[in-house]
Amino acid sequence: MQILQNISLKPFNTFGMDVYADYYAPITRPEELATITVDASLPAKRFVLGGGSNVLLTHNLHGVVLHNKIKGIEKVKENADHVWVTVGAGEVWHDFVMYAIANYWAGIENLALIPGTVGAAPIQNIGAYGVEVKEVIDCVTGWHWEMKQLLPFYNSECAFGYRDSIFKHQLKDKVFITSVTFRLNKKPNYNTSYGAIEQELQKMGINEPSIAAIADAVIAIRSSKLPNPREIGNAGSFFKNPTILVEQYNTLKETFPTIPSYPVSEENVKVPAGWLIEQCGWKGFRAGDAGVHEKQALVLVNYGHATGGAVWDLSDNILKTVHDKFHIELEREVQVW
Ligand code: FAD
Ligand code: EPU
Repeated sequence: MQILQNISLKPFNTFGMDVYADYYAPITRPEELATITVDASLPAKRFVLGGGSNVLLTHNLHGVVLHNKIKGIEKVKENADHVWVTVGAGEVWHDFVMYAIANYWAGIENLALIPGTVGAAPIQNIGAYGVEVKEVIDCVTGWHWEMKQLLPFYNSECAFGYRDSIFKHQLKDKVFITSVTFRLNKKPNYNTSYGAIEQELQKMGINEPSIAAIADAVIAIRSSKLPNPREIGNAGSFFKNPTILVEQYNTLKETFPTIPSYPVSEENVKVPAGWLIEQCGWKGFRAGDAGVHEKQALVLVNYGHATGGAVWDLSDNILKTVHDKFHIELEREVQVW
């Protein structure tokens, strides 16, 4: 295993923040984690990095960055309806989606083009276009730093929620996810009801959907809406869409009649944070190289040389103005280091 010192993380995070790690080790096999655990020459502070598409790096990292490169895709079981596939946590998520589609395994086609690694997918229970990854996760396997062993975490133990899981709470910084086992469907349940998927399929001239066509539609919609991190630094939605009480929503509607909402339960609705931020006048805002994307107010961007601190300060100002105008607390989705 190679351990490097004083490495720039700029190529390894989609915001393109140029911060340095004291130590950096690419991890290609789970066994290397046992070696790292007992290596007294390394600092105790560990940062687990996948594709770097959901982190905001605000300062140099004094510790060891463990860059997940564990590969491999293996079909482990199947029956008439399902196939179980174990995937190395360092596989690129979108590549796995394409692999599943090529094998006619359904269930993740709506999650095409989400950046990052397979191992990070359970952390915030990635979701898009009406599907969340928790629907197809059977088991997450991870190296537990304190127990010094690989442990399985079955779906029911992962406390999955909207952009949330046990790995952001009780197990935060305690586990390095090494693989994920998915239960995919041999018989697809097409989910085309969300957003513009139907419309996009029609535009593509497709009347009979297939998992490949749905992925193509999702890719087309995402490419038109979200900035490509290769062109403009960003980490997708910077904040979560807040859930508020129906009473609070009804009160807000008296002052802001066009405020959108999505039902969550009898008591709660979700309000799009992008709308709230746009109403506060932030859409297209730019201060130096830190800004708010001109097409999607929920996406904060680095136009070139913004620092993580500048993006953090911008996010703080957005939080304050949304709170002052709507009395709603936004929560950051992006992990801040
Ligand atoms: P990283 O950014 O490297 O890490 C994120 C967090 O997970 C960190 O705290 C890290 O320590 C931890 N982590 C990563 N790997 C492991 C591991 N193996 N073990 C333990 N901890 C680990 N997300 C959505 O849900 N839906 C979307 O539609 C979506 N669209 C996006 C669009 C764009 C343009 C971008 C840039 C991001 C988008 N995201 C979206 C966010 C992001 O793609 C996901 O959160 C993704 O799962 C992050 O993967 P990553 O490998 O880049 O994680
Ligand atoms: N809106 C505005 N102005 C904006 C942006 C959005 O008014 O500038 C309003 C519109 O009313 C729009 C609504 O917000 O109809 C929803 O916007 P969009 O469909 O773009 O979705 P989103 O809520 O901004 C969420 C996820 C995305 C996911 C898409 C599609 C969160 C925090 N974000 O975005 O996930 O791809 O839906 O399912 O839940 C991510 O997590 O990083 C991410 C990109």
